[in-house]
Amino acid sequence: MFHVKQGRDVTRILSVVNQKGGVGKTTTAVNLAAALAMAERLTLLVDLDPQGNATAGIIPDRSGLGIPTLYEVLLDATPTEAACRPTPLPYLMLLPGSPDLVGAEVELVEVSGREGRLRHSRRLQVLRGGPRNR
Ligand SMILES: Nc1ncnc2c1ncn2[C@@H]1O[C@H](COP(=O)(O)OP(=O)(O)OP(=O)(O)O)[C@@H](O)[C@H]1O
Ligand SMILES: [Mg+2]
Repeated sequence: MFHVKQGRDVTRILSVVNQKGGVGKTTTAVNLAAALAMAERLTLLVDLDPQGNATAGIIPDRSGLGIPTLYEVLLDATPTEAACRPTPLPYLMLLPGSPDLVGAEVELVEVSGREGRLRHSRRLQVLRGGPRNR
């Protein structure tokens, strides 16, 4: 899933979803996000997969990534902005996934409104500021 800032006040959300494994979801998401960023569309790539392959595709050395990640955003109400990372591309930001996401669905099972947590957390000031290094 990623967010692309379209105009001054318009952000488009694109999700790459397929129930079947190994069909190119991550490859599509990473390359599309990078291509949009290279076209100077301010883009946030959100890695919802506990495998973290999209995260590794953008930041290969995950050892220094630390927290917070999307898991803390979903479970601990950490603000989205705190978990977003810059990337080597000025117009691309990353909200990294983490292996902890594997338990998120179970941990949220008794939380009301759990399906809206990401939606409600995405007050993305991060997409309002413009690209880095500008
Ligand atoms: N257009 C393509 N042509 C050829 N190979 C591709 C293409 N897109 C992806 N692949 C390859 O297919 C494999 C699976 O891709 P990817 O990891 O993106 O799938 P996925 O749907 O995210 O998998 P998972 O369900 O495990 O998350 C990878 O080895 C990737 O390099
Ligand atoms: Mg994948």
